[in-house]
Amino acid sequence: MTDDTTTPHGAGAEGTPPAPDTPLVELRGAGKSYGNVRALHGVDLTVDAGRVTCVLGDNGAGKSTLIKIVSGLHRHTEGEFLVDGRPVRFATPRDALARGIATVYQDLATVPLMPVWRNFFLGSELTKGPWPLRRLDIARMKRTADRELRDMGIVLDDLEQPVGTLSGGQRQSVAIARAVHFGARVLILDEPTAALGVRQSGVVLKYIAAARDRGLGVVFITHNPHHAYMVGDHFSVLRLGTLELSADRGDVGLEELTDHMAGGAELAALKHELAQVRGVDARELPEEADLTAPWRRPRKAAPDPAPPSGGT
Ligand SMILES: Nc1ncnc2c1ncn2[C@@H]1O[C@H](COP(=O)(O)OP(=O)(O)OP(=O)(O)O)[C@@H](O)[C@H]1O
Ligand SMILES: [Mg+2]
Repeated sequence: MTDDTTTPHGAGAEGTPPAPDTPLVELRGAGKSYGNVRALHGVDLTVDAGRVTCVLGDNGAGKSTLIKIVSGLHRHTEGEFLVDGRPVRFATPRDALARGIATVYQDLATVPLMPVWRNFFLGSELTKGPWPLRRLDIARMKRTADRELRDMGIVLDDLEQPVGTLSGGQRQSVAIARAVHFGARVLILDEPTAALGVRQSGVVLKYIAAARDRGLGVVFITHNPHHAYMVGDHFSVLRLGTLELSADRGDVGLEELTDHMAGGAELAALKHELAQVRGVDARELPEEADLTAPWRRPRKAAPDPAPPSGGT
């Protein structure tokens, strides 16, 4: 099979349009080796418009490797990678971007001291006037950034404030709105909630849902099954470079997902160790696998309050 080597808006974009239900992005038995290290092997993944595909997995599971293939940073060494139903092999992230695949990395390529609106247009500044009098169209950039952020439900007090003064969640949100504005069809988010607290994570999850509702295919990489389950339509769990689970929302519950993430047996062992450290009975630990949550010894049997009589 010949690869459709990408020029921007390459062969997938012209000629016969893809069939209506063709996935935006598809990996079939894809893999990647770094020299002798086989980081990823035999992975199937589908990204559809208007859906959030969550990629979960422990450290070193291959999540970043997977998205680096899709975002054009690395080339796959086995299997197939298709965009709009056609095989592709991107040379650089710019090729991926040209096909509407935008990636928001955790360290976000923003300039902290520049105002929000300036960051929004970084590298794609709007200008006005003929050469050699061409200059930045500041008013239009401010207006557009303001409108786009509001359209996504992001309200910032002042677009003149330096991006460095925004919270982590707000910064991620601006990056998401920016990708939407510049025409992304596929939005890849690499652990956008990893460094955030509960509230800020909620903010980011809200904009993930907003991007999905706008018809983008979202790939949400996370360690956190709770975050994934709040917005995900499909869940792919990686383990040591292979797919351990690939299931639609209707086919997997949060508990099962959590179990897959941690590996049931390992989790049980961990629970046991944790119980020893804390000097409690493992059976007293909560069923929920969120071992990072603060844990309190259950109160000694206060009798159940009598049910209200005559209630509904
Ligand atoms: N450039 C590289 N050269 C050699 N090995 C690599 C390279 N990048 C990743 N690996 C290896 O591939 C495996 C998967 O790594 P990857 O970064 O994709 O995992 P991850 O799921 O993103 O982990 P994390 O949650 O820690 O970010 C690991 O064993 C890692 O050591
Ligand atoms: Mg990673």
